[in-house]
Amino acid sequence: MVRRRIAIGLGGAFLLAAIGFAAASWRPALAPGGPTPAETAPEQVRKGAVLASLGYCASCHTAEDGRPYAGGRGVGTPFGTIYATNITPDPETGIGRYTLAAFTRAMREGVDREGRHLYPAFPYTHYAGLTDPDVAALYAFAMTREPVRAEAKANALPFPFSWRPLLAGWKLLFFREPNIPADPRRDAAWHRGAYLAEALSHCGACHSPRNLLGAEVRTKAYSGGEADGWWVPPLDRSSPAPLPWGEADLTRYLAEWDPLHGGAAGPMRPVVEAHRTVPADEIRALASYVATLYGRGPAGSRTGPVDRAMPADDPAFARGAATYAGACAVCHESGGGAAGGVPYTTSSLGHRTTLRAPDPRNLILVLRDGIAPREHAPGPIMPAYGTTLTPDQTTDLAAYLRARFSPDGPWPRLGETVRDLMRQAPRPGARAESAP
Ligand code: HEC
Ligand code: HEC
Ligand code: HEC
Repeated sequence: MVRRRIAIGLGGAFLLAAIGFAAASWRPALAPGGPTPAETAPEQVRKGAVLASLGYCASCHTAEDGRPYAGGRGVGTPFGTIYATNITPDPETGIGRYTLAAFTRAMREGVDREGRHLYPAFPYTHYAGLTDPDVAALYAFAMTREPVRAEAKANALPFPFSWRPLLAGWKLLFFREPNIPADPRRDAAWHRGAYLAEALSHCGACHSPRNLLGAEVRTKAYSGGEADGWWVPPLDRSSPAPLPWGEADLTRYLAEWDPLHGGAAGPMRPVVEAHRTVPADEIRALASYVATLYGRGPAGSRTGPVDRAMPADDPAFARGAATYAGACAVCHESGGGAAGGVPYTTSSLGHRTTLRAPDPRNLILVLRDGIAPREHAPGPIMPAYGTTLTPDQTTDLAAYLRARFSPDGPWPRLGETVRDLMRQAPRPGARAESAP
């Protein structure tokens, strides 16, 4: 109730501020045009391709089974769904009429060529920190994609959120350039990592909490967030990860998969997949910076891995243990690493942050959807149990895993959450994506 009243109060204040500001914040349309040959030189395009992978452009701008960069994927927000647009150079439906100046304004200020304010579901609050040469390389890459004629899907947003001039007010209140730290004690790789993480790779867009109007809370950067119905773990000292994250583990995790900590399964998966086409030193740079984030912020209640004996006389635990022994132990007790020549076997579930999460969503979602193998390449695989296990079996299994592998006590509302999530269709992005 209190939260709702605050939301309505804030919404009203915001509306008034915005209406006044919108009038003063009108942005002009920029003249149509296209790239000059020098702007799309091959080395620019090659550089832009790597940057596009590190900015995860395809994970939003390519729809499931859609043509590359032709738009269509919906970005879920608490206000409704916002669809990524077609950024191929089709003149009618894409960005074919964008000059470098118009593209730069879109990337850094969130204003399209015609002068309309764009929703921050497009992470321009991070891209605002991109350098001129990097924006130019991204432009070269986008303008040399195959033009696709595809109208952007209409956003599913209720009024007043559907009224774009409001975004001028939002920007006034919340839009600040990203803070890219510099520290004379750190080396070049760390600084490169800081630039990537804060600007291009926008890690905080998912890993930081957002306020009631969807803006990232800067003072709580990297203390965890939400993405597509998943809990997003903190990347700071409040992380509940049972094993600490160091630079070497992070490098392996971000490049592919780490045998000890595990691998990405949910919205982090497209991030890791996109790294496949990125030079290894860029990934090491990211890891070098992110490793230092884990030293920041207030400490959480981190405890090392636990693996507790379960009472033999509890019938629910006995049912969970039986499912675990039959369905999971074959992989999750194989010791980790490429044991016996079998790649991608995994280590104990006691090493997973997932079982230390404040709620059971990530565990239920990975059980429902599994981890699909990559197309055309080996990679971690886990079967989907969404139709194999009943909601009751899933609940017993989850309660058992939590009790055995976490010291944090049972998850609240476990049964209801399992039933809610099992009812929904599998997440469309559950299939591994091919690289951009
Ligand atoms: C998290 C999802 C997401 C990512 C990642 C993302 N975009 Fe977008 N982008 C969007 C959405 C959503 C819109 C439309 C916003 C709106 O309608 O207000 C958009 C709009 C745009 C526009 C304006 C296009 C137009 O139709 O006028 C450009 C240009 C653009 N994106 C380029 C990029 C580039 C280049 C990258 C990678 C560096 C990128 N985007 C990454 C979600 C994303
Ligand atoms: C065929 C092998 C295989 C089987 C069987 C299997 N898993 Fe997995 N599981 C994996 C792989 C591979 C991963 C991804 C890499 C990792 O995290 O180690 C994974 C990841 C996970 C994760 C971590 C996901 C995350 O986002 O942190 C959990 C939790 C999990 N599995 C639980 C289970 C449970 C419970 C079962 C039994 C119902 C099961 N797995 C069965 C192979 C398997
Ligand atoms: C689209 C949202 C999104 C973006 C962008 C994103 N992450 Fe994640 N990340 C997640 C989610 C959700 C998880 C939880 C596990 C999963 O999805 O498999 C996660 C898990 C992780 C983990 C594992 C933490 C743990 O304790 O298990 C690390 C490390 C991580 N992300 C680092 C990064 C870095 C570094 C970046 C930027 C280069 C980044 N993430 C960008 C959503 C995101």
